[in-house]
Amino acid sequence: MHAAARAYTNIALIKYWGKKDEQLILPMNSSLSLTIDAFYTETSVEPQKELHEDEVIMDGTNLSDASAAKISRFMDLVREKSASRLFARIVTRNHVPVASGFASSASGFAALSAAASRAYGIDCAKTALSRLARRGSGSASRSIYGGFVKWMKGSDDASSYAVPVDSAEWPIRLISIAVNRQIKKLSSREGMKRTVETSPFYPVWVEAGEKDLDRIEPAIRRQYLEEIGKIAEANALRMHAAMLTADPPFMYWEEGTITAMKRAIHLREQGIACYFTIDAGPNVKLLCSEKDVGHILEDLAKFFPTDALIVARPGPGVEYIDRPVQ
Ligand code: DP6
Repeated sequence: MHAAARAYTNIALIKYWGKKDEQLILPMNSSLSLTIDAFYTETSVEPQKELHEDEVIMDGTNLSDASAAKISRFMDLVREKSASRLFARIVTRNHVPVASGFASSASGFAALSAAASRAYGIDCAKTALSRLARRGSGSASRSIYGGFVKWMKGSDDASSYAVPVDSAEWPIRLISIAVNRQIKKLSSREGMKRTVETSPFYPVWVEAGEKDLDRIEPAIRRQYLEEIGKIAEANALRMHAAMLTADPPFMYWEEGTITAMKRAIHLREQGIACYFTIDAGPNVKLLCSEKDVGHILEDLAKFFPTDALIVARPGPGVEYIDRPVQ
Protein backbone atom coordinates (compact mmCIF):
# COMPACT_ATOMS: atom_id res chain seq x y z
CA MET A 1 0.00 0.00 0.00
CA HIS A 2 1.13 3.50 -0.81
CA ALA A 3 1.05 6.21 1.90
CA ALA A 4 2.25 9.80 2.15
CA ALA A 5 2.60 12.24 5.04
CA ARG A 6 3.71 15.76 5.83
CA ALA A 7 5.50 16.80 9.02
CA TYR A 8 6.71 20.19 10.15
CA THR A 9 9.98 20.91 11.81
CA ASN A 10 10.31 21.97 15.42
CA ILE A 11 12.65 24.27 17.27
CA ALA A 12 13.67 23.20 20.76
CA LEU A 13 13.33 25.78 23.52
CA ILE A 14 14.69 23.31 26.05
CA LYS A 15 17.28 21.40 24.05
CA TYR A 16 18.01 17.72 23.66
CA TRP A 17 21.79 17.40 23.67
CA GLY A 18 23.13 13.99 24.63
CA LYS A 19 22.06 10.36 24.60
CA LYS A 20 22.14 7.78 27.32
CA ASP A 21 21.46 5.03 24.77
CA GLU A 22 22.78 5.62 21.26
CA GLN A 23 21.14 2.54 19.78
CA LEU A 24 17.62 3.32 20.98
CA ILE A 25 18.15 7.11 20.95
CA LEU A 26 17.17 7.64 24.57
CA PRO A 27 18.08 11.17 25.68
CA MET A 28 19.84 12.24 28.86
CA ASN A 29 17.17 14.86 29.52
CA SER A 30 13.61 15.67 28.51
CA SER A 31 13.22 18.51 26.01
CA LEU A 32 10.53 20.89 24.81
CA SER A 33 9.93 22.47 21.41
CA LEU A 34 7.64 24.55 19.27
CA THR A 35 6.53 23.01 15.98
CA ILE A 36 6.59 25.69 13.27
CA ASP A 37 4.68 26.08 10.03
CA ALA A 38 7.42 27.45 7.76
CA PHE A 39 9.51 24.32 7.17
CA TYR A 40 8.16 20.87 6.41
CA THR A 41 8.90 17.58 4.71
CA GLU A 42 6.58 15.48 2.58
CA THR A 43 7.36 11.81 2.13
CA SER A 44 5.68 8.91 0.39
CA VAL A 45 6.45 5.25 0.94
CA GLU A 46 5.48 2.44 -1.42
CA PRO A 47 6.59 -1.13 -0.71
CA GLN A 48 7.33 -2.89 -4.02
CA LYS A 49 7.97 -6.54 -4.86
CA GLU A 50 10.48 -5.76 -7.63
CA LEU A 51 12.94 -3.88 -5.41
CA HIS A 52 16.11 -5.52 -4.06
CA GLU A 53 16.85 -2.61 -1.74
CA ASP A 54 15.11 0.54 -0.60
CA GLU A 55 15.10 3.28 -3.20
CA VAL A 56 15.35 6.78 -1.72
CA ILE A 57 14.70 9.87 -3.80
CA MET A 58 15.26 13.11 -1.90
CA ASP A 59 14.43 16.43 -3.53
CA GLY A 60 14.59 14.78 -6.96
CA THR A 61 17.94 13.04 -6.42
CA ASN A 62 18.47 9.31 -6.00
CA LEU A 63 20.37 8.89 -2.72
CA SER A 64 23.12 6.31 -2.46
CA ASP A 65 25.27 7.70 0.35
CA ALA A 66 25.23 7.49 4.14
CA SER A 67 21.85 9.21 4.35
CA ALA A 68 20.27 6.49 2.16
CA ALA A 69 21.83 3.85 4.43
CA LYS A 70 20.45 5.63 7.51
CA ILE A 71 16.95 5.66 5.99
CA SER A 72 17.25 2.02 5.01
CA ARG A 73 18.29 1.02 8.54
CA PHE A 74 15.26 2.92 9.78
CA MET A 75 13.06 1.02 7.28
CA ASP A 76 14.46 -2.24 8.72
CA LEU A 77 12.92 -1.22 12.05
CA VAL A 78 9.57 -0.71 10.30
CA ARG A 79 9.87 -4.12 8.60
CA GLU A 80 10.70 -5.77 11.95
CA LYS A 81 7.37 -4.50 13.31
CA SER A 82 5.46 -5.51 10.18
CA ALA A 83 4.62 -8.80 8.48
CA SER A 84 6.12 -7.47 5.22
CA ARG A 85 9.72 -7.89 4.17
CA LEU A 86 9.35 -5.77 1.03
CA PHE A 87 11.72 -2.95 0.18
CA ALA A 88 10.18 0.41 -0.57
CA ARG A 89 10.37 3.32 -2.93
CA ILE A 90 10.65 6.40 -0.71
CA VAL A 91 10.16 9.81 -2.23
CA THR A 92 10.78 12.78 0.01
CA ARG A 93 10.79 16.51 -0.51
CA ASN A 94 12.13 18.98 2.02
CA HIS A 95 10.65 22.41 2.19
CA VAL A 96 13.52 23.14 4.59
CA PRO A 97 17.08 24.32 4.03
CA VAL A 98 18.84 20.98 4.63
CA ALA A 99 21.34 20.69 7.55
CA SER A 100 21.54 24.39 8.22
CA GLY A 101 20.37 24.23 11.82
CA PHE A 102 16.74 24.14 10.68
CA ALA A 103 16.38 20.58 11.94
CA SER A 104 15.39 18.92 8.66
CA SER A 105 15.96 15.51 10.23
CA ALA A 106 13.08 16.26 12.63
CA SER A 107 10.46 16.83 9.94
CA GLY A 108 12.07 14.17 7.74
CA PHE A 109 11.89 11.26 10.16
CA ALA A 110 8.48 12.34 11.49
CA ALA A 111 7.01 12.29 7.96
CA LEU A 112 8.77 9.01 7.13
CA SER A 113 7.49 7.38 10.34
CA ALA A 114 3.90 8.26 9.55
CA ALA A 115 4.07 7.29 5.85
CA ALA A 116 5.99 4.05 6.49
CA SER A 117 3.74 2.99 9.39
CA ARG A 118 0.65 3.30 7.24
CA ALA A 119 2.26 1.73 4.16
CA TYR A 120 3.46 -1.29 6.18
CA GLY A 121 0.26 -1.60 8.23
CA ILE A 122 1.84 -1.04 11.64
CA ASP A 123 0.60 1.04 14.61
CA CYS A 124 -0.16 4.61 13.50
CA ALA A 125 -1.18 5.95 16.93
CA LYS A 126 0.67 9.16 17.79
CA THR A 127 2.70 7.64 20.64
CA ALA A 128 3.82 4.78 18.39
CA LEU A 129 4.80 7.27 15.65
CA SER A 130 6.72 9.38 18.15
CA ARG A 131 8.65 6.37 19.44
CA LEU A 132 9.42 5.26 15.90
CA ALA A 133 10.45 8.74 14.72
CA ARG A 134 12.79 8.96 17.73
CA ARG A 135 14.75 5.98 16.37
CA GLY A 136 15.49 7.96 13.20
CA SER A 137 16.44 11.20 14.93
CA GLY A 138 15.69 12.19 18.51
CA SER A 139 14.19 15.58 17.70
CA ALA A 140 11.81 13.94 15.18
CA SER A 141 9.87 12.42 18.10
CA ARG A 142 8.52 15.93 18.81
CA SER A 143 7.40 16.75 15.24
CA ILE A 144 4.51 14.28 15.54
CA TYR A 145 2.58 17.00 17.37
CA GLY A 146 1.85 20.65 16.69
CA GLY A 147 2.37 23.61 19.03
CA PHE A 148 4.47 23.18 22.17
CA VAL A 149 5.62 19.59 22.61
CA LYS A 150 7.58 17.80 25.30
CA TRP A 151 9.72 14.73 24.64
CA MET A 152 9.73 12.78 27.87
CA LYS A 153 13.10 11.16 28.20
CA GLY A 154 11.68 7.93 29.67
CA SER A 155 13.86 5.04 30.73
CA ASP A 156 13.47 2.61 27.85
CA ASP A 157 12.15 2.32 24.30
CA ALA A 158 8.52 2.15 25.44
CA SER A 159 8.61 5.17 27.75
CA SER A 160 10.59 7.69 25.66
CA TYR A 161 8.18 9.65 23.45
CA ALA A 162 6.68 13.10 22.95
CA VAL A 163 3.42 14.49 24.28
CA PRO A 164 1.58 17.68 23.31
CA VAL A 165 1.84 20.44 25.91
CA ASP A 166 -0.10 23.37 24.44
CA SER A 167 -1.53 24.14 20.99
CA ALA A 168 0.18 27.58 20.93
CA GLU A 169 -2.91 29.33 19.62
CA TRP A 170 -1.66 32.78 20.46
CA PRO A 171 0.37 35.28 18.45
CA ILE A 172 3.82 33.91 19.25
CA ARG A 173 6.18 34.01 16.26
CA LEU A 174 9.60 32.62 15.45
CA ILE A 175 11.88 34.52 13.08
CA SER A 176 14.60 32.36 11.50
CA ILE A 177 17.80 34.11 10.54
CA ALA A 178 19.78 32.03 8.05
CA VAL A 179 23.36 33.05 8.78
CA ASN A 180 24.83 30.26 6.67
CA ARG A 181 22.93 27.60 4.71
CA GLN A 182 25.90 25.28 4.10
CA ILE A 183 25.91 21.75 5.50
CA LYS A 184 27.56 21.82 8.91
CA LYS A 185 30.90 20.10 9.42
CA LEU A 186 30.09 18.40 12.71
CA SER A 187 26.70 16.65 12.90
CA SER A 188 24.49 16.97 15.99
CA ARG A 189 24.99 13.28 16.56
CA GLU A 190 28.78 13.54 16.73
CA GLY A 191 28.72 16.87 18.56
CA MET A 192 26.45 15.67 21.34
CA LYS A 193 28.41 12.44 21.77
CA ARG A 194 31.63 14.38 22.24
CA THR A 195 29.96 16.77 24.68
CA VAL A 196 28.58 13.93 26.82
CA GLU A 197 31.92 12.13 26.87
CA THR A 198 34.26 15.04 27.48
CA SER A 199 32.66 18.26 28.74
CA PRO A 200 33.07 18.87 32.50
CA PHE A 201 29.97 21.12 32.16
CA TYR A 202 27.80 18.29 30.89
CA PRO A 203 26.30 17.22 34.27
CA VAL A 204 25.47 20.87 35.00
CA TRP A 205 23.76 21.15 31.61
CA VAL A 206 21.52 18.14 32.32
CA GLU A 207 20.61 19.29 35.81
CA ALA A 208 19.82 22.86 34.74
CA GLY A 209 17.76 21.58 31.80
CA GLU A 210 15.39 19.72 34.10
CA LYS A 211 14.84 22.91 36.09
CA ASP A 212 14.27 24.92 32.89
CA LEU A 213 11.60 22.45 31.88
CA ASP A 214 9.81 22.75 35.22
CA ARG A 215 9.76 26.54 34.83
CA ILE A 216 8.85 26.83 31.16
CA GLU A 217 5.69 24.73 31.28
CA PRO A 218 3.73 27.09 33.58
CA ALA A 219 5.02 30.06 31.52
CA ILE A 220 3.63 28.41 28.36
CA ARG A 221 0.26 27.85 30.02
CA ARG A 222 0.20 31.55 30.99
CA GLN A 223 1.33 32.60 27.48
CA TYR A 224 4.07 34.57 29.19
CA LEU A 225 6.45 35.29 26.30
CA GLU A 226 9.13 37.11 28.33
CA GLU A 227 9.49 34.20 30.74
CA ILE A 228 9.47 31.56 27.96
CA GLY A 229 12.07 33.56 26.03
CA LYS A 230 14.40 34.09 28.97
CA ILE A 231 14.37 30.40 29.88
CA ALA A 232 14.90 29.29 26.26
CA GLU A 233 17.75 31.73 25.67
CA ALA A 234 19.60 30.68 28.82
CA ASN A 235 19.07 27.02 27.97
CA ALA A 236 20.53 27.45 24.47
CA LEU A 237 23.54 29.35 25.79
CA ARG A 238 24.20 26.63 28.33
CA MET A 239 24.14 23.98 25.59
CA HIS A 240 26.66 25.97 23.56
CA ALA A 241 28.80 26.49 26.67
CA ALA A 242 28.95 22.70 27.07
CA MET A 243 30.20 22.41 23.46
CA LEU A 244 32.86 25.07 24.10
CA THR A 245 34.15 23.04 27.02
CA ALA A 246 34.24 19.68 25.21
CA ASP A 247 37.56 18.08 24.26
CA PRO A 248 38.40 19.03 21.60
CA PRO A 249 36.11 22.04 21.95
CA PHE A 250 33.85 23.07 19.09
CA MET A 251 31.64 25.97 18.15
CA TYR A 252 28.82 26.30 15.63
CA TRP A 253 28.66 30.09 15.80
CA GLU A 254 29.82 32.42 13.08
CA GLU A 255 30.10 36.21 13.02
CA GLY A 256 26.48 36.52 11.88
CA THR A 257 25.37 34.37 14.84
CA ILE A 258 26.83 36.89 17.28
CA THR A 259 25.33 39.78 15.32
CA ALA A 260 21.87 38.19 15.54
CA MET A 261 22.20 37.56 19.29
CA LYS A 262 23.31 41.15 19.85
CA ARG A 263 20.33 42.46 17.85
CA ALA A 264 17.96 40.54 20.13
CA ILE A 265 19.65 42.08 23.17
CA HIS A 266 19.54 45.51 21.58
CA LEU A 267 15.84 45.17 20.69
CA ARG A 268 15.10 44.18 24.27
CA GLU A 269 16.82 47.32 25.48
CA GLN A 270 14.26 49.18 23.37
CA GLY A 271 11.47 47.37 25.21
CA ILE A 272 10.72 44.72 22.56
CA ALA A 273 10.26 41.16 23.81
CA CYS A 274 12.61 39.21 21.57
CA TYR A 275 14.71 36.18 22.58
CA PHE A 276 17.11 33.97 20.66
CA THR A 277 17.74 30.28 20.48
CA ILE A 278 20.42 28.47 18.45
CA ASP A 279 20.70 24.79 17.51
CA ALA A 280 23.72 22.86 16.28
CA GLY A 281 24.51 25.35 13.56
CA PRO A 282 25.17 29.05 13.00
CA ASN A 283 21.56 30.08 12.38
CA VAL A 284 19.55 31.97 14.95
CA LYS A 285 15.84 31.86 15.72
CA LEU A 286 14.12 34.72 17.50
CA LEU A 287 11.01 34.22 19.58
CA CYS A 288 8.74 37.23 19.62
CA SER A 289 5.19 38.45 19.49
CA GLU A 290 3.27 38.99 16.23
CA LYS A 291 2.86 42.69 16.91
CA ASP A 292 6.64 43.26 16.99
CA VAL A 293 7.55 41.29 13.84
CA GLY A 294 7.60 44.37 11.58
CA HIS A 295 9.89 46.35 13.86
CA ILE A 296 12.25 43.40 14.40
CA LEU A 297 12.49 42.65 10.65
CA GLU A 298 13.25 46.29 9.96
CA ASP A 299 16.13 46.16 12.42
CA LEU A 300 17.46 42.80 11.14
CA ALA A 301 17.31 43.96 7.52
CA LYS A 302 20.17 46.35 8.28
CA PHE A 303 22.41 43.32 8.95
CA PHE A 304 21.02 40.39 6.94
CA PRO A 305 19.61 39.96 3.43
CA THR A 306 15.83 39.90 3.57
CA ASP A 307 15.62 36.43 2.00
CA ALA A 308 17.57 35.13 5.02
CA LEU A 309 14.71 36.15 7.32
CA ILE A 310 11.72 33.85 7.58
CA VAL A 311 8.79 34.42 9.92
CA ALA A 312 7.09 31.28 11.21
CA ARG A 313 3.93 30.65 13.19
CA PRO A 314 3.24 27.64 15.38
CA GLY A 315 2.67 24.67 13.09
CA PRO A 316 0.51 21.52 13.16
CA GLY A 317 1.42 17.92 13.87
CA VAL A 318 2.07 15.21 11.31
CA GLU A 319 -0.71 14.71 8.78
CA TYR A 320 -1.45 12.22 5.99
CA ILE A 321 -1.73 13.55 2.46
CA ASP A 322 -3.61 12.05 -0.49
CA ARG A 323 -1.36 12.86 -3.40
CA PRO A 324 1.98 11.15 -4.07
CA VAL A 325 5.18 13.13 -3.39
CA GLN A 326 7.09 13.97 -6.58
C1 DP6 B 1 20.51 21.01 18.89
O1 DP6 B 1 17.70 15.10 16.79
O2 DP6 B 1 19.36 15.95 15.09
O3 DP6 B 1 18.63 20.53 17.50
O4 DP6 B 1 19.04 12.16 17.62
O5 DP6 B 1 21.40 12.24 16.84
O6 DP6 B 1 19.55 12.51 15.19
P1 DP6 B 1 20.02 12.73 16.62
O7 DP6 B 1 20.10 14.31 16.83
P2 DP6 B 1 19.10 15.48 16.47
O8 DP6 B 1 19.61 16.61 17.50
C2 DP6 B 1 18.96 17.80 17.68
C3 DP6 B 1 19.79 18.70 18.53
C4 DP6 B 1 19.30 20.12 18.68
C5 DP6 B 1 18.41 20.28 19.89
C6 DP6 B 1 16.98 19.78 19.79
O9 DP6 B 1 16.38 19.77 18.71
O10 DP6 B 1 16.45 19.44 20.87
